[in-house]
This record gives sequence, C-alpha cells and structure tokens, in this order.
Amino acid sequence: SHVDVDQCAVEVCRLVDRAAEHLRAASGQMRVFETKLNNKDLVTATDREIEELLIKGLRERFPEHVYIGEEGTAGASTGRKLTEEPTWIVDPIDGTTNFVHGFHCSCISVGFWLNKQPELAICHNPTLELIFTARRNRGAYLNGEPIRTSGQTELERSLIMQELNAANLERCEHRDILLTNAVGMLLKAHALRTTGSAVMDMCLVAMGAADGYYEFYPHAWDLAAGALLVREAGGVIMDPAGGDFDLMSRRVLAAATPQLGNQMVQLLGDRQIYHRRDDEP
Ligand code: IPD
Repeated sequence: SHVDVDQCAVEVCRLVDRAAEHLRAASGQMRVFETKLNNKDLVTATDREIEELLIKGLRERFPEHVYIGEEGTAGASTGRKLTEEPTWIVDPIDGTTNFVHGFHCSCISVGFWLNKQPELAICHNPTLELIFTARRNRGAYLNGEPIRTSGQTELERSLIMQELNAANLERCEHRDILLTNAVGMLLKAHALRTTGSAVMDMCLVAMGAADGYYEFYPHAWDLAAGALLVREAGGVIMDPAGGDFDLMSRRVLAAATPQLGNQMVQLLGDRQIYHRRDDEP
C-alpha cells in the first residue's frame, strides 16, 4: 500500500515537538531513575512517557505501521525485526544518563524506515535547541538550515567521537579492544570526544563539528535516525570492519568522507566486538 512520506514527516515533527516540551519540563525536576540490565543502564519515567507519547501518537495516524521502541511500550507484538514494512524506530531519550545528571546531550530520536531503507530522521536536543532533520535524497538540516559533513579525508586531522559505555568494559577481552582502539584513535587523530549520546555523535558528524564516530554496542533505536542524517549530509555510514551498515548489528562507523571511514576501519583492524544482534531472539 502507498506510504505518504510527506504526511509522516508532518506528523512526526509535530509529535517530537510535544515530546521535547515534555523533556524540557522534566529537566527541572529531581531525576529519579531505575536500572535495567545493570546498575549503569538507567531508565526514568520520562523515557517511558515520551516513548508512549510518540508511539501512541504515531499509531493513531498510522495504525498499520510497525513500531520499535527502546522501552518496549510498542508491545511485544511488533518484535524487533527490520522488514520491508513502514517502520518507526523510536529512542525517547538517547542519553538517559546525561538526562539523569543534567548533562546537555539528551535527544529525542526517531527514524522512519521503509523497504529496509531510512526515509526520515529527526533528532531533537531540547536543552541546546538543536533540531536535526533529514529525508532520503533531500538533504540534512539543522534548525531548518542545510548541513554538510566537514569533508575531512585525513584521520591525522580529525576529531573523532567515541562512546565509552560502561557495560562494554565488563568483559576483559572487550575492555582491551575498546581501550586499545581508543588510545589508537587518540594517538592518530587531533582529538577524541564523547557526548554520551550516540545520535548526538552522529549529528555532530553530520554538521561537520566532528569528523568521525564509531561504536560497538548501540541498538537500532540509537542509530535509526543518525544513519540517515550522516548520509544525507554527505557522509558515510558503514560497519566498523568495512562492510555495509547493518541497523540491527549493534555496530556503527560514521565518517565525513569514505577516505576517512576507510582509515578508521584500518586503524580498528581486527579489534572488533560483536554483541548479540537486535533481531536475535
Ligand atoms: C545510549 C547512548 C550512549 C551509547 C549507548 C546507547 P540510551 O543510549 O547513546 O551514548 O554509548 O550505546 O545505548 O540508552 O541513552 O538511549
């Protein structure tokens, strides 16, 4: 059946605006959190409220679409497999730990995928008043102005984003890989930075404020919007071992140019981490 992407774009922008209001209002409060997989995997009532606001709102307009959300409010029925169906992938707060601490990088991130390709992306950081949007073949925008990646081709002249996720350090062999990679990047590049939000890292690459980003850990909802933003801004999004980007693989590498992407892949070499995929039962 025909999908009206214009209508999807209007609807998601309206709902993300409301969600951003909600996030801003909650930012003044004392942040009570619960833990999920371990004592550093945080979730707040605000995560769940925003996810519900977004998924309920979208579902009212597009009941036949598929929904994938971080906090599971989409219901077990929708599952986590990426199919050809029109699919909304929602991260109500990317950077929940930032939110809990009042650090300025908490983003609402929504990607709309069709035929296993990203069609629409929106990332809203209410604290910094940054709204990133992208649509397939129509470019990427920050607060309505077109953005481009830096065009940087040399790792030696790059600023690289990388997340140091605590959950990733628990296994000894992973710790070695992560730290060796981080030190390798730091020695080679101009600088290494971390925001605590995967989508924010990708937005920084898309707008040319950072040149590259890689991570072994993020989930589909952390990547669904950022992947299109980087691509539409003229950058590349790929697997950290050099293959095609795979939304469900929990692996990502974004770069301003293919040349830089390939240099990052070379530096990582066989120091790779494979977590359980998002579409594995
Ligand atoms: C996390 C953040 C973090 C990244 C993790 C993500 P969440 O998302 O983006 O920076 O290192 O991979 O899972 O849990 O705050 O939505």
